[in-house]
Amino acid sequence: MQVDWLTALTQEVSHREVDLDRMLRTVIDALTEELQADRGTLYLVDPGRRELVSRMALLPELSEIRLRIGEGVAGWVAEHGELVNVPLGNEDPRFARRIDAQTGYRTMSLLAAPVRSRRGDTVAVLQFLNKRRGVFTNTDEELLADRSARIARLLDHTSLAAQLSPGNRLPLAFRFNHIVGESAAMRDVYRRTARAAATEATVLLRGETGTGKELVAHAVHVNSARYDAPFVKVDCAALPANLVENELFGHERGAFTGADRRAEGKVHAAKGGTLFLDEIGELPLPVQGKLLRLLQDRTFHRVGATGTEEADVRFVCATHRDLESLVEQGAFRRDLYYRLRVVEIVLPNLRDRGRDDLERLIDHFVFEHARRHKRQNVQLTSRAREALYAYDWPGNVRELEHTIESAVVLSADGRLEPEHFPLPDKERAIASPAADDGPIRPLEEVELEYIRHVLDRCDGNKSLAARLLGIGRNTLARKLDKV
Ligand SMILES: Nc1ncnc2c1ncn2[C@@H]1O[C@H](COP(=O)(O)OP(=O)(O)O)[C@@H](O)[C@H]1O
Ligand SMILES: [Mg+2]
Repeated sequence: MQVDWLTALTQEVSHREVDLDRMLRTVIDALTEELQADRGTLYLVDPGRRELVSRMALLPELSEIRLRIGEGVAGWVAEHGELVNVPLGNEDPRFARRIDAQTGYRTMSLLAAPVRSRRGDTVAVLQFLNKRRGVFTNTDEELLADRSARIARLLDHTSLAAQLSPGNRLPLAFRFNHIVGESAAMRDVYRRTARAAATEATVLLRGETGTGKELVAHAVHVNSARYDAPFVKVDCAALPANLVENELFGHERGAFTGADRRAEGKVHAAKGGTLFLDEIGELPLPVQGKLLRLLQDRTFHRVGATGTEEADVRFVCATHRDLESLVEQGAFRRDLYYRLRVVEIVLPNLRDRGRDDLERLIDHFVFEHARRHKRQNVQLTSRAREALYAYDWPGNVRELEHTIESAVVLSADGRLEPEHFPLPDKERAIASPAADDGPIRPLEEVELEYIRHVLDRCDGNKSLAARLLGIGRNTLARKLDKV
């Protein structure tokens, strides 16, 4: 049978910060319908706690069900990794009566199947209750076996995959695909992100560089009604002041020397979708006034145009700057500031998220980069883990991610040792230009030396070196060409 929607969804989750619970609920609802069942549940296996946790029980009476591995039919399926078809629920010895007792629901028939990871571990159990007419058939069993295999691939592409691996604990709070962390501060971020996504309100994201502002901006978009339309980013810091306006609004032919044809701006490109204004604190004052009008009236002018145009965009802005003090200094318009902060989401620094989040992020990045670089058997030694815990992470999540990616690439046999992590101790030689005593050297010279060092560590792989350095490949080539 054709289930293109499941294939399409699998491709989509690999790069979208979708709300995982909502996505899984859609999947279960569709399967409940396909199987003509009354209710469907997905249990995730928590390997660390040896428990099954229901994610969408569809039981209003009970939001979460926990079973020990081996308990009940679902627990039996998790333990044995086999499909079970029970025609009369409460007569099967494996049946867990306490759940029906808790919910008041009467289970008549039951079909449950394991969802297996590529390594063969049961990572989840799909369970359907009460076939609408009669009992679950052989055809239903085949259908469910097929769907379980597809759902396994789907889960594989989510950020849950790393957490479902042997030895790990399932996060108690997870919400958005690719966004990892369950500290109180991150839960607050999720709550606000979900609320903002459901509305058209302008969102202001704050937090230091590398804390995940862009990730959250994207999550707001993909979970909003505008998810099918473009997400367009404008980096206000990357453009000279006189080009920002043009970038945003476009221009008319002849608007300035060289404007030999009319061009659309990013506001137009984001039509129906979301416009992400990154580093909004760097927006030049004259453009701030124009942005204010855009936010107030939803209209704008192209550069050189007389008439106005309507804008259909939702705004998400981000900055690592202290906007209040920019307002005090007169560098940022107060009225614009108030317009932007309808919903404010503050991303915590990595060091304020606690050991648990750090641990999960480490596992997440090890898993993701092992997959991306097709490295087998990647394992973090406990010495390396300790070194990562001990470090202060001034560069936040981005620095953590780059550190892990480079270790994954550089380790010869997949064992990640402290030596593979470019943490400060080891980098002191390179950091010498920052020392107080040595002679002052031209930035270009130090930069080139550092680039060569990184290139060397990446075995000459320029794309990787550029990524680790946070610059484009072309920029890297240009810097190397200058000599
Ligand atoms: N909570 C998180 N879980 C997983 N990855 C994260 C998280 N926060 C940040 N990242 C990753 O760290 C990097 C930097 O995030 P980004 O959103 O670009 O930060 P910012 O815009 O605040 O500088 C990205 O690769 C992003 O995917
Ligand atoms: Mg950013």
